[in-house]
Amino acid sequence: MNKKPIILGIESSCDETAASIVTEDDNHNPLILSNIISSQESVHKDFGGVVPELAARAHIEKIDWIVKKAVKKSKININEIDAVAATAGPGLVVCLSVGLSFGKALALSLNKSFIAVNHLEGHALSPKLNSKLSYPYLLLLISGGHTQFLSVQKLNEYKRLGTTIDDALGEAFDKTAKMLGIKFPGGPQIEVLAKKGNPNRYKLPKPIFNKGGCNLSFAGLKTAIFRIAHEIKTDQQKYDLSASFQKTINEILYKKTKTAFEKFEKINDLNNKKKIFVVAGGVAANKKIRSKLMELCNENNYKYIFPPIELCGDNAAMIAMVGLEKFKQKKFSTLDHPAKPRWPLDENAAFLKGAGVIF
Ligand code: KG4
Ligand code: ZN
Repeated sequence: MNKKPIILGIESSCDETAASIVTEDDNHNPLILSNIISSQESVHKDFGGVVPELAARAHIEKIDWIVKKAVKKSKININEIDAVAATAGPGLVVCLSVGLSFGKALALSLNKSFIAVNHLEGHALSPKLNSKLSYPYLLLLISGGHTQFLSVQKLNEYKRLGTTIDDALGEAFDKTAKMLGIKFPGGPQIEVLAKKGNPNRYKLPKPIFNKGGCNLSFAGLKTAIFRIAHEIKTDQQKYDLSASFQKTINEILYKKTKTAFEKFEKINDLNNKKKIFVVAGGVAANKKIRSKLMELCNENNYKYIFPPIELCGDNAAMIAMVGLEKFKQKKFSTLDHPAKPRWPLDENAAFLKGAGVIF
């Protein structure tokens, strides 16, 4: 019997230092042998966001230890791995460089293949770590740095259907939290506070709700929160604003996802095929968002797939898994592969950011 490929994945694009060993089971499905994540929450919490230089330094301090821990936990010998896969972009260049250089050096010293991985492809394919998925599927990627609807045609082939024209959704959650005095990253905390609040107390704007296809915008919403947050005096008002913000986000996602469904069905020949909707990225951990999108899927005959909560945020298992897929297709990278701070999944999609975007 052929030896099953064993891939070491390394992730350091933002504020998580992570390493993972992934192989495959007898049915050729990915199998996680270890998945170690070290978060830098304590490094950045007082700054209201990720400080690139502090993040890079924390990666440098931890990476060696995290990789060793992932190898030890997997119970394999480091010489048994077939390839090292490392995130090469998109992300903070000083952070990417740490994992990428470490991965290249390790591959070289072990005389193994090296595979550069797009972080977004990791999120996009992450549901494959625990469920069978057939192409094409519609993906909503909602993380701290990205918010996009993508039609996933196959490995390395994506069509962007919509994107945020300003802030990412996770960023909107984190900034709202900051305005309420919650330390970074406050997104998960907003979900907790919202449980105690009245979602109908504050009426908030829904930018480009009725135009722009399934493109999204959150900047105007953030400005509205800023004004209200200044006048807040009681804890109950904080809870109510959190709940109102979350409800507004849910209404925006519900409407825009419906439009994305239509676009997805228009560009794919889905005759007799199941319609599949995958939600990935850190914000996909939010239970209220999950349940609203599940409701929409049920109404529109879509099968929904959410990665388990621990695989929604940044992790190296998703990087190793993309590495595994690329390894099987012999898609290797050279050791001069650059760190790419900007690396869209759909290279043909227009750059849609900032003021001046006209629909
Ligand atoms: O995918 P991820 O771990 O990192 C990036 O690639 O950005 O996403 C992190 C983002 C943060 O903005 C965080 O606040 C947000 O996901 N997030 C949440 C929740 N859990 C994480 N936002 C809302 N509700 C949550 N439960
Ligand atoms: Zn991410």
